Amino acid sequence: MTEPDTYSYPRYLTAKRTVDARALNERVWTQFVERIAEQASPVRVLEVGGGVGATVQRIVDALEPRVVDALRYTIVDIQSENIETARAALHDWAEDRGYSVSGGQTQAWTGGPLDVSVEFQTADLFDLAASHDGPLYDAVAAQAVFDLLPIPDAHDALAPLLAPGGLWYLPIHFDGVTAFEPPVEADLDARVERLFHESMNDAPDQPGRSGAHCGRRLLTHFQGADDSLLEAGASDWVVLPEGEAYPGDEAYFLHHILHFVETELTGHPDLDADAFAEWMATRRRQVEAGELTYIAHQLDVLAQKG
Ligand SMILES: C[S@@+](CC[C@H](N)C(=O)[O-])C[C@H]1O[C@@H](n2cnc3c(N)ncnc32)[C@H](O)[C@@H]1O
Repeated sequence: MTEPDTYSYPRYLTAKRTVDARALNERVWTQFVERIAEQASPVRVLEVGGGVGATVQRIVDALEPRVVDALRYTIVDIQSENIETARAALHDWAEDRGYSVSGGQTQAWTGGPLDVSVEFQTADLFDLAASHDGPLYDAVAAQAVFDLLPIPDAHDALAPLLAPGGLWYLPIHFDGVTAFEPPVEADLDARVERLFHESMNDAPDQPGRSGAHCGRRLLTHFQGADDSLLEAGASDWVVLPEGEAYPGDEAYFLHHILHFVETELTGHPDLDADAFAEWMATRRRQVEAGELTYIAHQLDVLAQKG
């Protein structure tokens, strides 16, 4: 796949679903599902920064064969284009599984193994938390979101929405290692990776965010908080060609990752502009040829409100 003419964030999130599916930590996921399946019906889940709805599908899939008979799900994202993509994708996905789907802002899925409602909200999670006056949730899920936030602030805002004993399911949190293979030029590869990580820490529009070491900071935070850390484990992204092509839409996913790197580092005073442009062009050619391997180290965390 050659470099796309335009980049779409919902397409990036949709393309990353297969990458996440391989990466998610099985121990953390299994314990999360077993514990939410023990809750009285309906199970109530709040997902913040829910993107295009991949975690909704995963949770419905996991609960359908269990004794749970009803799920009340609220998915929130600050970007309306993500919520609109999630609404359309989940509508079609549920119908394909045999559910009858009705409703707009809240979809009701009936006639299937679970009685499901999914409420879609375009909102800042901090505003949503501050104005919440409904029932408490059995679980708060946030996948690849706490990297963008100050962890203590997000935790303190969302904790009052969780029932006592409620679960924090926090997968796919970046933890400080990026690797592109094969090497282009060792010193430049290392510099690009270091500056890319630094750019995650120094986002002027998101002061105090946990950034490149979010995964380990989550462990530290939940060990020190009133909550109990139940389980944690690695969920590294490993994107490899199968033969000469990448599975699913993962060539697009790789181009979008390179686009993030280019957007963050173009014009950086510690990079020679021509050398960096040549580095980008080489990495893009490696995607086109099915030669690039990309690895990002991440952690999944499961904790319980005290
Ligand atoms: C890296 S994406 C992850 C999306 C999805 N959870 C996934 O893993 O595919 C982070 C998401 O968090 C959302 N987000 C960032 N800050 C937010 C906030 N303050 N409130 C709600 N959503 C937020 C973004 O719009 C984006 O969709």
